[in-house]
Amino acid sequence: MIKRFSFGNPIETEATVVKLPVSSENELTKYIKLSADKKCMTISLEPDDIVYGLGESVHGMNKRGFTYISNNTDDMHHDEDRYSLYGSHTFVLIDSLSGRKLGIFLDYPASITWDIGFTDKDLMTVSLEDADYNLYTVEGEDDLSIIKEFRELIGPSYMGPKWSFGYVQSRWGYKSGDDFREIIANHKKYDLPIDSICMDIDYMDDYKVFTLNKENFPDLKALMDEMKAENIHILPNVDPGIKCEDGFSIYEEGKKKGYFCKDENGEDFVAAVWGGLTVMPDFLRPEVREWYGDLYKEFIEAGIDGFWNDMNEPALFYSRKHLKEVAHDLKTLEERVDDLTLNELWDFTATISGLSNNPEDYKSFYHTVDGKKVRHDKVHNLYSVGMTRASAEGFRRNNPDNEMLLFSRASYIGGHRYGGIWTGDNCSYYSHMDLLMHQLPNLNMCGFIYVGADTGGFSFHTSEPLMTRFLQLSMFTPLFRNHCALGKRDQELYRFKDIDTMRNILNLRYSFIPYLYESACDSAENGKLMFTPLAMAYPDDVRARSIEDQLLVGDSIMIAPVTAPNAVGRYVYLPEAMRMLRFRSVDDFDDIELEAGNHYVDVALNEVLVFVRGGHQFYMAKPANRTALMEDADFKYFER
Ligand code: GLC
Repeated sequence: MIKRFSFGNPIETEATVVKLPVSSENELTKYIKLSADKKCMTISLEPDDIVYGLGESVHGMNKRGFTYISNNTDDMHHDEDRYSLYGSHTFVLIDSLSGRKLGIFLDYPASITWDIGFTDKDLMTVSLEDADYNLYTVEGEDDLSIIKEFRELIGPSYMGPKWSFGYVQSRWGYKSGDDFREIIANHKKYDLPIDSICMDIDYMDDYKVFTLNKENFPDLKALMDEMKAENIHILPNVDPGIKCEDGFSIYEEGKKKGYFCKDENGEDFVAAVWGGLTVMPDFLRPEVREWYGDLYKEFIEAGIDGFWNDMNEPALFYSRKHLKEVAHDLKTLEERVDDLTLNELWDFTATISGLSNNPEDYKSFYHTVDGKKVRHDKVHNLYSVGMTRASAEGFRRNNPDNEMLLFSRASYIGGHRYGGIWTGDNCSYYSHMDLLMHQLPNLNMCGFIYVGADTGGFSFHTSEPLMTRFLQLSMFTPLFRNHCALGKRDQELYRFKDIDTMRNILNLRYSFIPYLYESACDSAENGKLMFTPLAMAYPDDVRARSIEDQLLVGDSIMIAPVTAPNAVGRYVYLPEAMRMLRFRSVDDFDDIELEAGNHYVDVALNEVLVFVRGGHQFYMAKPANRTALMEDADFKYFER
């Protein structure tokens, strides 16, 4: 049973596709206590309650014990003390052993603070900055039916084309077509499957969006034809900001038409991103979305059929205004060099690090929504949705016959209908595999199905064992991309020693694609989870409630990846008897029947576990080095 409550004057976010009538406040569930000013709600938590949701945020699958802030943030340190990451997914689901099952969706695009048993372990306190929002409550018999009802409210999810389930090689630093040729040649040499290669910002002319460095990319169409002949998709990175440069036609046109966000004086708001001083398209206006969406056209005409939208929180390295203030502080620092106190030093370092993504900057520019001026921070989390929607609608106009791949860094519920997401700049940490396990079901319940993480880790240097274990987890996610930062160790799979293991993992992934793609489409269209916590699938099993390192993938299988350094095995809990497949390769695997209960299972570095559930079938296809060369016919079939 789903209900809508509306307070104040909510911004129309278009997060939902069903427009529910507004219920009166006295129909609000007894579990939620609203403050008189409606800016705060409290919900008491029973000791065994699980609180799922909040999509991409840090911490466990069960969000209890921490505070989260829904405020899209460019932060490459996904550590445990981070309140916000790139996406704001403002749906939670409380599951009580006593039978209370309650979904809460706050449709409010400014900052929301969720204190989920942090200040008081038995209390959840949700605070909003204003009392202008829509609150949806979903009550039902079980978690999965609540999720289905919620997902019907927000509409079907975007799904990438089947080829986008192939392996994607990426890194920040590929500079030219020769880099792509080298990757393809090495994948051929070592017989490693691959479908796509990402072009990071290095392809642009001086970081100007929708331009090409002509020296390195003299003829994009010819390069794309060459790539097509190899069955390789090239995926360019696109940033929202437009470099302020006289003579840059996109900048000049947008400026002339008044398409950029404005400062308090009605001038274009200028902040720095990659290309230096940059303006931000006002994606909240339909005519700006249409204009921006058509900017992809030239690339599409050259043969490109996939993009990744980046930096769209939007990330602001600094604003001109704020930099001036810091420059002023720097002058005063000069007078203090002989007796600087520690407090002054700390203040100064905080001022410098506070230059990027500064909250005051987000309060200093404006959008036009239905002809009215709206301060950015009031609609901050919608910015990326506007960009994703602009791209998706542009694709439909300019390439209606082709399915396009699109994934974004920032997101808010509603954006799930237009594109997938990746989880941003993670690190080469073992713990970031655990984080991904926790994010996957929580993202799915918020509508995001085409998702994946930077496999191997973006920041820091990866190691061969870490990459191997990360691949063995990412091989189950729709987006399967190896990506890393500029200056980090080369992590293309052929750089490592045990290439046979890398090949076996990729081949396994390709042979699982028909199963994974079908499961993903089923989840996207039918409001199901692709990654389901055990507690939801086995609601009567109390032990399953605390399992956060195993997930069901689709209807038929369970995964239990190894995420600990140097581990050669792990404990696995089976809520029912299952058939355990321990793969070393597509053809070399153990097939063992295991009883329900706790087991310790050996899992060598070259092994991947798949558990087949009772009453279900799991099938594999014959792998190939491109998805386009695969036949879907079952090659291996397992039934339990
Ligand atoms: C951002 C992206 C990252 C990309 C880099 C350069 O940090 O999150 O994936 O490689 O920008 O474009």
